[in-house]
Amino acid sequence: MTPPRRRSAFTDIRWFEELASTNTWLLEAAADGCPEGTVVVADRQSAGRGRLGRTWASEPGSGLLTSILFRPAVGLPELFAVAAAVSLSALDALEAVAGVRAGAKWPNDLVVDDAKLAGVLSETSGAGPGPLAVVVGLGLNVSWPMPGPDADALGATCLEGLSGRPIDRRELLEVLLDALAPRRPLLDEADGRGALVREIAGRTVTIGRAVRVELARESFTGTAVGLDDAGRLVVQGAAGERIVSAGDVIHLR
Ligand code: BTN
Repeated sequence: MTPPRRRSAFTDIRWFEELASTNTWLLEAAADGCPEGTVVVADRQSAGRGRLGRTWASEPGSGLLTSILFRPAVGLPELFAVAAAVSLSALDALEAVAGVRAGAKWPNDLVVDDAKLAGVLSETSGAGPGPLAVVVGLGLNVSWPMPGPDADALGATCLEGLSGRPIDRRELLEVLLDALAPRRPLLDEADGRGALVREIAGRTVTIGRAVRVELARESFTGTAVGLDDAGRLVVQGAAGERIVSAGDVIHLR
């Protein structure tokens, strides 16, 4: 018999058949005082949300759609480390469960050969008791249902396609949470957050690439040269170095 898991945190997993959005559900629960470490999963979302106001759509049961609640001792400028902790743990789980080594595309995607395997959306709720509530949502393409939009045409990929074997979403989640538990304490200390930012920088395939950065009111091209201490992207452009804290990045070559 498999021994019970002895994870120190992230043990309260609430799995739903359908939610509008796991992030929305958990943000509302956080405002009502839901404890740190709560994990929400949905087989399908009717109003899944992505970064920059986009939607996140996936066929029922085809993805790992989850959100995790943190109440770390951080301020808004330090939120990148929270998402990084989840991304790094997802990268570990992809390797352990599926034998797939993925990379991070700044700011919040997981990719294999530039095809998107997963996206991360972190949001905050200032309401409710205690420190800032941070909800980090992960949408990971596990299988690619047919018929449907062609993954290649969307610049996307899926885990079963990459690994060539069926993947159990629950196992993937459990392994991710096992990897997340030891990272969680790092979020409360500047040194720990710095370590997470350095670790994700080491997995960030954007660094060293020619990129186009799309901001709300302008776009520019340059070479991504690294992440700063807060996880912002440092881009060497024609007019000098620029620090990018939010926006879309396109890998040019
Ligand atoms: C992105 O790439 O734009 C981020 C996508 C994040 C999608 C996930 S799915 C689970 C969680 N709930 C949501 O509504 N969004 C996130």
